[in-house]
Amino acid sequence: MASSGTAASAVREDRLWQRHVDMAKLGSTPRGGVNRQALSAEDAAARNQLMGWARERGFEIFTDAIGNLFVRRDGSDPTALPVMSGSHMDSQPTGGRFDGMYGVLAAFEALEALEDAGVKTKRPVLAVAWTNEEGSRFQPGAMGSAVFAGHNKLDEMLLVKDWKGVVLKDALAETLQAAPASMRAGKPGFALDGYVEAHIEQGPRLENERTTIGVVTAIQGSRRYIVEILGEEAHAGTTPRAARKDAYLAATHIAAAMYDATTDADDTLRFTIGRVDVLPGSPNTVPGKASFTIDMRHPSDAVLETHEATLGALVAARAAPCTARIERVTAVPPTAFDPKVIGLVRSTAKMLGFTNMDMPSGAGHDAMHVARLCPTGMIFVPCERGISHNEIENAVPADLAAGARVLVEVLIELANR
Ligand code: GLV
Ligand code: MN
Ligand code: MN
Repeated sequence: MASSGTAASAVREDRLWQRHVDMAKLGSTPRGGVNRQALSAEDAAARNQLMGWARERGFEIFTDAIGNLFVRRDGSDPTALPVMSGSHMDSQPTGGRFDGMYGVLAAFEALEALEDAGVKTKRPVLAVAWTNEEGSRFQPGAMGSAVFAGHNKLDEMLLVKDWKGVVLKDALAETLQAAPASMRAGKPGFALDGYVEAHIEQGPRLENERTTIGVVTAIQGSRRYIVEILGEEAHAGTTPRAARKDAYLAATHIAAAMYDATTDADDTLRFTIGRVDVLPGSPNTVPGKASFTIDMRHPSDAVLETHEATLGALVAARAAPCTARIERVTAVPPTAFDPKVIGLVRSTAKMLGFTNMDMPSGAGHDAMHVARLCPTGMIFVPCERGISHNEIENAVPADLAAGARVLVEVLIELANR
């Protein structure tokens, strides 16, 4: 039975917007964005903020061993599997106010709208803030959902180090101490009946097409690598070129060849070198060590596989006189969302009178891991000029509310199946 739209009407645009404003104070940056990297003090502050709001509404709160934070509104059938919605509260170093946070706040707004409208659901409805989606401090990204879904192992993730050598399990312990919630024992993960994630589009299509709701059909595959080049430190003033093993010079040769090899005619393959480290980092010492990260994405796993082989060959061929190696940090195959959830998002947007279009996602999201567990879909809303991973990222309150209205009605449908 289709929902009446009562819960959609109970979504409060002003409340949802104010929650974004409040969250944006935690880790705020000079150009209006946030730097709230995973398991930082700012991340702990955001968790406390969310838990405070959840407590005010009487919702149950719990966390798991990788720090995923859950807010639960009971259903009428205690034996029914829950449905869930959410995203992440961590950000890029130059992050915006909406990437991830919107999905968490839209899910929380959905719980509040259900409560305000007095809508009972058969299944419990959960909001979740996944740990470390961005993967800018600790790799890989989408870590909380990956562990939840069994894509990555908890024990291995707890030992991951950030760029300064801080071990994840120590940062996690500090975060959980600063933002305590009751701990769900055992390995992360539990059975779900459905999952829907709301997110800003992070691209320009919805805005260009003057469309409010993106019905997300798929997420392209992504792989990340780290390339390490070993050379030899030497005096910058005295060492002749022929005698040098300059690790940074070799890195530039490898990188230039990689950019060439990954430029495709239709501009589908995404190839990014986003972080370069050069050691010892002294102006007058020839670098003895260099490393850089690669983020590569494409809708076809076969294309990613072919390019992975090419990258490996280039590392071997262009490193001389240094030595180099490439290590794959993560590989997530393309995700096709559930046709029924896709259809439900589309029909709900239509029912509520919102313009909508089907679209795949170029960005990665926690939904790509959850989709391996249960029927999953996503809802996109426009963001200004499609700009994201940037402090100036922006979105319109009415669009954010529209996405939350679609979300709450979709959740009701899933929660009453
Ligand atoms: C998420 O931030 C991504 O990199 O796709
Ligand atoms: Mn995101
Ligand atoms: Mn992001």
